[in-house]
Amino acid sequence: MDNEKPEHIRRERYKGTHPKSFKEKYKEQQPELYEAAIEKVLAQGRTPAGMHRPICVSEIMDILKIVPGQVGLDATLGYGGHSLEMLKRLQPSGRLYATDVDPFELPRTKERLAALGYGEDVLVIKKMNFCAIDQLVYESGLFDFVLADLGVSSMQIDNPERGFSMKLEGPLDLRLNPTKGKSAADFLKTLTLEKLEEILVENADEPNYEAIAKAIISNLSKGIAIATTTQLKNIITDILTPAPFRLNKDDIKKTCQRCFQALRIEVNNEFGVLDLFLKNLPDALVSGGRVAILSFHSGEDRRVKKSFQHLFRTGVYSEVAPDPIRASSEECFNNARARSAKLRWAVKA
Ligand SMILES: C[S@@+](CC[C@H](N)C(=O)[O-])C[C@H]1O[C@@H](n2cnc3c(N)ncnc32)[C@H](O)[C@@H]1O
Repeated sequence: MDNEKPEHIRRERYKGTHPKSFKEKYKEQQPELYEAAIEKVLAQGRTPAGMHRPICVSEIMDILKIVPGQVGLDATLGYGGHSLEMLKRLQPSGRLYATDVDPFELPRTKERLAALGYGEDVLVIKKMNFCAIDQLVYESGLFDFVLADLGVSSMQIDNPERGFSMKLEGPLDLRLNPTKGKSAADFLKTLTLEKLEEILVENADEPNYEAIAKAIISNLSKGIAIATTTQLKNIITDILTPAPFRLNKDDIKKTCQRCFQALRIEVNNEFGVLDLFLKNLPDALVSGGRVAILSFHSGEDRRVKKSFQHLFRTGVYSEVAPDPIRASSEECFNNARARSAKLRWAVKA
């Protein structure tokens, strides 16, 4: 395979000595061109901005047992880290299909993998929701293996314009595909107090759900905008810092993370599409086909576990993971995101 580097894009000029806005951060836009900077960040156990490090790669490859000539699906392409490992194992005659709903990151990953020699003859990338796997098989045929690495990528979190992180000011969007559906800011405006409470409990087990939901709805009803990540963070901070809560900075941060996650899950209907994917999955696999699913949220893991166990009992799967596989302590040390990962697998009967 070629090892060509992508063409350098001329960076935007910034004022002063350091880039401030995300648009000016040229290394984050094309991290693969800055090897020394990447090495330095990786050595500190951090993920270079603009990149995503694939999790549990060797564990997933052990499960999927990919051999040349097979046809597989990476249902969550992201930065393409897992896809790249699969493509290496499929050569010389296999084919990988890859799906993602992100209209911004998908073409960049396609270009990056094409520059490594994986063009459309071996890698077919589709901008689509993985829940429609039943439609994809009409084109691809049945799959020998499938991977789904659920949730969001580091690139999505790093880009303040996507509104996934409360660390930086950005529009309160939280959509994996911002060209479809309602942003989190618009979605909030449609909610009743009871529905918002339910979302915070169901999707994030938020202990202070009543106070947070009340503060959000009361701000909105007074016409106070919650249009940015910082505005939502400030509302949560203002309500939970004084008595009777008296939460410290760390606890406020964790609360904000839970609330953002709860909204993200709802805005993208993440549980709904996962349920549909799990239902459609067996019919998209050949007999003996193997599937691995990596999840980062107890609500996701519970769904995967239930579906695998139910379909094992009914004879659809011949083998399923007895327990979730966790990332090694070394990987967790080097990549904090791996700590919450749970990997489950199944084999079609
Ligand atoms: C954790 S990242 C995957 C990272 C990838 N495995 C890698 O090695 O770079 C999850 C990706 O799945 C995508 N995604 C999440 N839900 C999806 C869905 N229902 N259908 C298609 N893509 C989805 C997200 O947009 C994101 O790019």
